Amino acid sequence: MERTLSIIKPDAVKKGVIGPILARFEEEGLRICAMKKIQMSKRVAEGFYAVHAERPFFGELTEFMSSGPCVVIALEGEGAILANRRIMGATNPAEAADGTLRKLYADSIGENAVHGSDAPETAATEIAYFFAGTELL
Ligand code: CMP
Repeated sequence: MERTLSIIKPDAVKKGVIGPILARFEEEGLRICAMKKIQMSKRVAEGFYAVHAERPFFGELTEFMSSGPCVVIALEGEGAILANRRIMGATNPAEAADGTLRKLYADSIGENAVHGSDAPETAATEIAYFFAGTELL
């Protein structure tokens, strides 16, 4: 069993597609261990994306991620990290395969509907950034 962090980003929350995205995770066999709706401050978004601090899009990314509510979710399942990445599709929705969440719901590489951890170490760090161990059920 593996865990991964998913974020339903502010663009997808504004579009009213929290429900279909959660349904998709469950249909694909990913179990929701923990979930909450939050609005990140700029500082919290900067901490979450610290690995991208030197990238030219860091300011735009952290502005967007703190611009409205999002839903943070700890998902669990066999191969959950890769499974979630397959369900999300490519970072750039223009390159995302048909039926993926980003193809269905994202408008641009910056406002791309969902985030998912990319490796076991980042998944552990990212889940711990938003959830205490006792909240993972
Ligand atoms: P995410 O999976 O949340 O991880 C980092 C995010 O940076 C990524 O999704 C994109 O939303 C964003 N990102 C990556 N490349 C660019 C870019 N060229 N311009 C704007 N945002 C980007």
